[in-house]
Amino acid sequence: MSETSESGRGVFTAVVSANKQIGSSFYKLRFMFSGDGAKAFAGFAPGQFAEFDLSAVALPSPEKIPPELLDTSGRSVLLRRPFSFTDVAVHGDKTTADLMYCVVGPASLRMTTLSAGDSLSVIGPLGNGFRIPEGKKYALLVAGGMGTPPLQHLAKVLSSDYKDIEVTAFAGAKTKTALPFEGRMDEISQQLGFSLREFAQFGIESIVATDDGTSGYQGFITDCLIEWLDNSDAAAEDIIIYSCGPEAMLAKVAEIAASKNIDCQISMERRMACGIGLCQSCAIECKVPGSNETVYKMCCQDGPVFDGREIIFSFQHEK
Ligand SMILES: Cc1cc2nc3c(=O)[nH]c(=O)nc-3n(C[C@H](O)[C@H](O)[C@H](O)COP(=O)(O)OP(=O)(O)OC[C@H]3O[C@@H](n4cnc5c(N)ncnc54)[C@H](O)[C@@H]3O)c2cc1C
Ligand code: FES
Repeated sequence: MSETSESGRGVFTAVVSANKQIGSSFYKLRFMFSGDGAKAFAGFAPGQFAEFDLSAVALPSPEKIPPELLDTSGRSVLLRRPFSFTDVAVHGDKTTADLMYCVVGPASLRMTTLSAGDSLSVIGPLGNGFRIPEGKKYALLVAGGMGTPPLQHLAKVLSSDYKDIEVTAFAGAKTKTALPFEGRMDEISQQLGFSLREFAQFGIESIVATDDGTSGYQGFITDCLIEWLDNSDAAAEDIIIYSCGPEAMLAKVAEIAASKNIDCQISMERRMACGIGLCQSCAIECKVPGSNETVYKMCCQDGPVFDGREIIFSFQHEK
């Protein structure tokens, strides 16, 4: 069953083909779309998202629920939840979409019980996605914590369709268990290298940082970004920075980019009740170019990707 709009966006059925745990609270889900859903999601751009109805999905048994989520796990999940994809691939008349999720509350907890053959109602593709301006020679992908999924998808598209652009990935988290990647995170070095297989598979070097030094460089991933920029001969106009993650990190990335006059696109997160611009629950305050005025834009419809220069972040980054 599907209901499509002129934009190709619609309500579609996604059938689960796999659901695999890859870390203490991270999972990878693969979906298959057929018919109109396959056509609509074939055009899903990195940074776009979809809204999932998880209201009918079962909770895991109590012994499988993390203690910190026991109190809230029974809350109803009537509102759809937004997720981006790490990859989208077309196979004949089917389209597969890979999603990586972190278990943080009642809806994502329910996702852990999905198994092959289960179907879900999905609205999408939604939002604008990342843009790739002409003439760029270097793309720096800066991911914080669970901000990595749309950047993994972007890495694949850049490496396959924009071979003239040299891509480098930066991934940071508080500690090694909060890095949403497969493999031994404690074996990651402090140097730039082909350390994360999610990026290495596309020939993309990555650098990892954790606040506590349990994986990669000890410190903020934004320090690694500054170091890369300071050591590079690349002209500012040849570089573009793409970033997704916690707002404090995004604010710092936007500040670094603005101070060096580098283009920067930031994928923002807000709670999203409708996902299609109707409820105004996802407002983001933005600067109006050339004036002191501000305007509220809807993260779901005008974003989630914004120019780093236009966002007014909800707090001031500590210097
Ligand atoms: C455009 C977009 C793309 C996303 N892509 C992914 C993805 O690829 N993988 C993934 O794991 N998560 C992603 N998220 C976040 C995901 O939507 C939430 O983790 C999910 O809705 C949580 O639902 P829940 O019922 O499990 O937890 P809830 O009980 O709803 O939330 C648990 C905690 O997370 C916070 N939270 C929940 N949703 C958001 C949000 N949208 N912004 C900021 N804080 C939030 C809540 O304040 C609360 O503290 C994305 C969000 C957006 C807006
Ligand atoms: S989620 Fe309703 S307007 Fe954005």
